[in-house]
Amino acid sequence: MKLTWLGHSCMYLETNETSILIDPYISGNPTFPMAQLHRAKAAENILLTHGHGDHLGDAVALAREGKANLIAIFELAFYAVRQGVKQDNVIDMNIGGYTDVKGARIHMVQALHSNSIQKGNEFLYGGMPTGFVIEADGTTIYYAGDTGLFSDMKLIQDFYKPTVAMLPIGNRYTMSPEAAAYACNTLLDVKTVIPMHYGTIPQLTETADSFKSLVTRGEVLALAPGEEVTI
Ligand code: NI
Ligand code: MN
Repeated sequence: MKLTWLGHSCMYLETNETSILIDPYISGNPTFPMAQLHRAKAAENILLTHGHGDHLGDAVALAREGKANLIAIFELAFYAVRQGVKQDNVIDMNIGGYTDVKGARIHMVQALHSNSIQKGNEFLYGGMPTGFVIEADGTTIYYAGDTGLFSDMKLIQDFYKPTVAMLPIGNRYTMSPEAAAYACNTLLDVKTVIPMHYGTIPQLTETADSFKSLVTRGEVLALAPGEEVTI
């Protein structure tokens, strides 16, 4: 499976049989690599962890225009349908379940965060915030989404046995480098960890180096936006 970081928490995965775009924050993402736009637009599956603007991003527009499946928690999936995404293109699910799409198994897991969709001065309820565990081509990835540290990351490790994790490290709205390193060193047991949710908006001042210096279990792979790796 090939993984490309598209800045912030936007990830693109290419498996032997399909393509998966997670949290497509394109418009307004200062680090989105525009050379990758065609791949983002052609993704067959769009996964959403929650409804905050830096994650919901362009998902509705992409799903409305194209043929992608939009996969999200029940309330957020319902919101997408109300925004004009065809019901047939939406796979609603909830924490604890999985859905299979062309050789990839997508499990929805918990995240410790908030979830809403901002509409002017109001917030629409978006359901629980989530992460995903993705199994494809014999590799299992834990994509944590926006989250604080929680002890059931150990349960996620024990049950799903991921070998790759993508963790937010930017602090303020998610785990700090210290908290994410604790997750790696104590709760998870992955071979490769890819940091995300940093280096974009001004409030996120943390760097991958500070995270890297604290991780003692697993290798930290700090990608540049647009960089592709085979995992
Ligand atoms: Ni968020
Ligand atoms: Mn966020």
